[in-house]
Amino acid sequence: MSNWTRDFFIYLSQNKFLNESAKKWGFRLGAEKFVAGTTIREVVPVIKKLNEKGIHVTLDHLGEFVNEKKEATLAKEKVLEMLDVMHNENLDSHLSVKLTQLGLDIDFDFCLENMKEIVERAKEYGIFVNIDMEDYSHLEDTFNILFELRKESDLVGTVVQSYLYRTADDMEQLKDVRLRIVKGAYKENDDVAYQSKKEIDANFLKLAKQRLLDGKAFTSIATHDHHIINELKQFVEENNIKKDTFEFQMLYGFRQEMQYALKEEGYAFCTYIPFGQDWFGYYMRRLAERPQNLQLIWKDMLYD
Ligand code: FDA
Repeated sequence: MSNWTRDFFIYLSQNKFLNESAKKWGFRLGAEKFVAGTTIREVVPVIKKLNEKGIHVTLDHLGEFVNEKKEATLAKEKVLEMLDVMHNENLDSHLSVKLTQLGLDIDFDFCLENMKEIVERAKEYGIFVNIDMEDYSHLEDTFNILFELRKESDLVGTVVQSYLYRTADDMEQLKDVRLRIVKGAYKENDDVAYQSKKEIDANFLKLAKQRLLDGKAFTSIATHDHHIINELKQFVEENNIKKDTFEFQMLYGFRQEMQYALKEEGYAFCTYIPFGQDWFGYYMRRLAERPQNLQLIWKDMLYD
């Protein structure tokens, strides 16, 4: 996809008016293929089906860039409710959260307090909490919140992005932390991030290999890119890396057959399942990444 098309969808993903409006539209533009439902109750059968195949899931109640305390508190309540359901239904799952949904843009301490409540409940249930990484302007605060939370529980980790120049250094500080490695989904300037796919992919491989060799904490390799997956599979074989030290992760609705195949080949696998009414920003980033998803828009417009 050309850079301007990618930039256009990323711009849409951050447009507050469209994000707000989309909550009232219901799923549109093919989003239902990538967002598993609107409520946790609707999503439980989807999770159970994946669990039956031995696939672990990480659950994300969609939402980001919240500017009002009331809304952030509501988001926290939803996450607490999710944790109760995950525990009561005995789901093989963990939590993914975005800090801007929980008030990071309002006030650091307010967000930290919200996260402390979430982490405390998750710890009671033995559920791991992963903090998604958002755009670069939130990176330092995300790490600071992570380190505060880890004073209370080890069951908290985060995400590192291979498009950032600094990630290798960050990973030095995060050797004991469970991490998800991704390429990065936001638009960042060339003073902080690689711009070409070639460099981003090369850095992904370098970071993932180093991390797998270190083997100090669990790693999630999150990509739909079969070139990267195949190279890492070979690397794991050649270096006798234990299969219980890492997993592959993909997003719900993407490359379903490959998700099942990796599991059947004996790799730990986790599907990232987003749900909720706040689907617009998430879905626009998926369109920015993959032109083929656009076809679903045309279909939707023609048949809706
Ligand atoms: P990319 O889009 O670079 O595609 C590479 C190649 O793979 C394509 O050219 C094609 O050949 C093949 N391919 C990809 N998708 C395909 C498909 N559906 N069907 C067929 N072929 C396909 N980002 C972030 O900034 N913070 C975060 O917290 C997260 N979290 C996260 C969790 C999980 C589980 C995933 C998978 C991803 C994220 N991301 C993320 C998003 C991530 O940063 C990145 O933007 C996307 O994963 C897209 O990059 P890929 O590596 O998947 O392949």
